[in-house]
Parts: sequence; C-alpha cells; structure tokens
Amino acid sequence: MKTENTVWHSQQVSKSQRAEIKQQTACLLWYTGLSGSGKSTIANAVDAMLFARQCHSYLLDGDNVRHGLNGDLGFSDSDRVENIRRISEVAQLFVDAGLIVSTAFISPFRADRALAASKLASGEFIEVFIDTPIEICEQRDPKGLYKKARAGEIKDFTGIDSAYEAPENPIIHVRTADKSIEQCAQQIIDHLIEHGFIV
Ligand code: ADX
Repeated sequence: MKTENTVWHSQQVSKSQRAEIKQQTACLLWYTGLSGSGKSTIANAVDAMLFARQCHSYLLDGDNVRHGLNGDLGFSDSDRVENIRRISEVAQLFVDAGLIVSTAFISPFRADRALAASKLASGEFIEVFIDTPIEICEQRDPKGLYKKARAGEIKDFTGIDSAYEAPENPIIHVRTADKSIEQCAQQIIDHLIEHGFIV
C-alpha cells in the first residue's frame, strides 16, 4: 500500500538517456480492438519489424499477461478495469526504460485507455485502433470463443454481452478488412518514422 512513508526515488539515468543510446524515442503503442480483430498478430508483426531495424521494443500481450501477472482476473467490468490499470503501470515502467512498448489488450473502456495515457508524457501514448468489424472477427473466430459466447458458454464476451467503446480519435486507425498483416504493420512503422520515434 502507498503511504506517506513511501517516497518516489528519482533515478540517476533518465528515460531519454536510456532511449538515446538505443537511437529511438520511447513510446507506448496501445493497441485496442475486439477479440479476433488482429491486435496480437499485428503487434507481433510490428515488433518483429522493429527488431529487424535494431530497435529495442517489448510487447505485452493480453492472453500472455493473463497467464501470470493478471492470472487472478476474469472478464467482469471491474476485473477488466484492474487488468488495464496493472498493464498501464507496467507499460509505463517499460517506457521509462527507454523502450518502444506495445500492449495488445481489448481494453474496451475509453476511461481506462485515458487513464493509461495520463501516466505518460505528452506524445508518448499512441492509441492504435485495430478496426475490424465484429462480423469479420466472428467469421475468423481463431479461438472458437465467439461460437462459445453465442452458445452461452462464455459470459461477458466483448461485443456480444459486454461493451466495446471504440476510440473516437485514435492516433493510428488501422482498418484491417482490406489489408494484409504486413500492410497494417507497415502503417504503424511509417507513423513511428514520420513522427521521429525511430530512424
Ligand atoms: S480486456 O478486456 O481485459 O482488455 P484482454 O485483452 O486482457 O481483455 O483479454 C482478451 C482475450 O481473452 C481475448 O482475446 C480472448 O482470447 C480471451 N477471453 C476469454 N474470455 C473473454 C471474454 N469474456 N471477453 C473477451 N475476451 C475473452
């Protein structure tokens, strides 16, 4: 618990110094979108492209983080809020380490994404909307979860009986329906180059 006796300790090496030796500017690519929209796939492709360019990056992925750090959380509204709160804290630390961080979580609520953004300096938070219509997500159904949700075997499923609040002004808007994974990933890399995060 944070008390008046817990004092923030400043570190000698700054975020920008850490990022500079990596020849990059630290930032957080916050992917949001429905289950099956392609968040993890595209975030992985971007991460591989960053690695190929010798950038220092790290990807925090919903399904993986729910195995460990957030293994105690389910899919009620309050658990999703806590899921995103913990992720945004971890992501902020990774950004502080000078990395280009990606998070791939449904993160269905606008207020929680705004909270994640508020932890970072201006310009560091890049909301990436992986915009795939639910009909397509449901057709793809890579994990068979839509089928189970329609059959009533999974409750509180995003887009079916739990809300998804789409971003109103995403910094990067990726419309996946008529694009390949490479094209989607390239759109994100182009943004990072254009805005000077990577060379
Ligand atoms: S979030 O809403 O809290 O951001 P998160 O991205 O961590 O969700 O986890 C979503 C993943 O969990 C989905 O891609 C899917 O594989 C799985 N999942 C299991 N149950 C549900 C559910 N009820 N709603 C959405 N996703 C679920």
